[in-house]
Amino acid sequence: MPKTALLGGKPVSAAGYELKWPVVDEEDVEAAKRVAESGAWWRFDGKEVENFEKEFGRCQDARYVLGVANGTVALEVALRACGIEAGDEVIVPAITFIASASAVLLVQGIPVFADILEDTCQIDPADIERKITERTRAIVVVHYGGYPADMDDILSIARAHGLKVIEDAAHAHGSEWRGTGAGSLGDMGTFSFQQSKTLTCGEGGAVATNSEDLYNKAFAYHHIGRVIGSDKYEHTSVGPNYRMNEFQGAILRTQLGKLLQQTETRMKNAAILARGLEDLPGLQSLKKDLRITRRGYYLYVLLFDEEAFGIGRERFMQAMKAEGAELLPGNSVPVYRLPAFREMSFGRKGCPLTCGHYQGKMDYSRVSCPVAEKVGGRRLMVLLNEVLLKEGNIRLFLEAAHKVYENRAELLEKT
Ligand SMILES: Cc1ncc(COP(=O)(O)O)c(C=O)c1O
Repeated sequence: MPKTALLGGKPVSAAGYELKWPVVDEEDVEAAKRVAESGAWWRFDGKEVENFEKEFGRCQDARYVLGVANGTVALEVALRACGIEAGDEVIVPAITFIASASAVLLVQGIPVFADILEDTCQIDPADIERKITERTRAIVVVHYGGYPADMDDILSIARAHGLKVIEDAAHAHGSEWRGTGAGSLGDMGTFSFQQSKTLTCGEGGAVATNSEDLYNKAFAYHHIGRVIGSDKYEHTSVGPNYRMNEFQGAILRTQLGKLLQQTETRMKNAAILARGLEDLPGLQSLKKDLRITRRGYYLYVLLFDEEAFGIGRERFMQAMKAEGAELLPGNSVPVYRLPAFREMSFGRKGCPLTCGHYQGKMDYSRVSCPVAEKVGGRRLMVLLNEVLLKEGNIRLFLEAAHKVYENRAELLEKT
């Protein structure tokens, strides 16, 4: 049995994964040059953002797409368009990036955390139902890692209670639920195009919807309160400037041209990974769900079982890194445990929690979602999208994981 690298053996690969993200080619360079030379850099002087919105809408099955500055403000725009106001409760998952919840605070709403399901790491519909009060107005569903949450159950709960559904699809470009693109199943969907995302222009975001009314509201809010076609200084409501520019639009169009092929490659390599883990105790992929007809892998989420594997998650991750096959802990800290929430750093008057707008009671330091805490604390690990672009990386990961497993007794003894 070869000795594990963490205890002085030779690593499976000294060079580690072969990583290259984003994938840039001549087309991207040409697109940026075309915009630079045109001098039409803001969206209303050119056609890049407008064309991207149409093309991305076709990709995600949304009638309307609005390009915005990033994924955080995309959530804010969607919440505003859905009419969320001060003191309204919005249910969000406990395991996600902070923006899924903090955007609710940015519109003075109250994020209410729902637990996740252990085998999918997605928001638990039964816990959504338990968290509904007379103040609940909406649910933010995150397709964590690009794995679609159970939209059948979520939409039927939302319909029964008259709640809006906003899909935070920041991880789910290309993902499909029963043949329909993520982000166009609920009332609105939001996307991030930040550097690490599977569709990127460095920073950027989008809001998607099939409702003309919600689109018009979103457009006006992101455009400093001007409706489509208004005169230059005709502001009919109050809003920020969250517009996307033509450079972002142009790069997103060329990157979008590569998205579906890259998604296919990630899915093929993810299937090799899942098969390769079948005979390895203690490392589990997310549950197979046939309603997920395409999965855009922003993250490959893995669930660790320390009893079955024989060592703890942190030790496993150290050993894998030493072998050249690094894993990351993902969003392992439930959002309500992050200092911003735990210490309720909401400004001088504590708005929106304690300023009089909110009629309920919320103390984030007392929130507990047991599954999120267990999964985040001991089980969750992720591989980034670019690892899945090369089959060689998957072979490296599998060889390293099997090697670490064979060395588990020694790793435990020498902790
Ligand atoms: C689930 C989720 N939502 C929202 C965002 C915010 O996107 P952005 O970084 O573009 O503001 C992110 C960013 O990582 C995210 O992971």
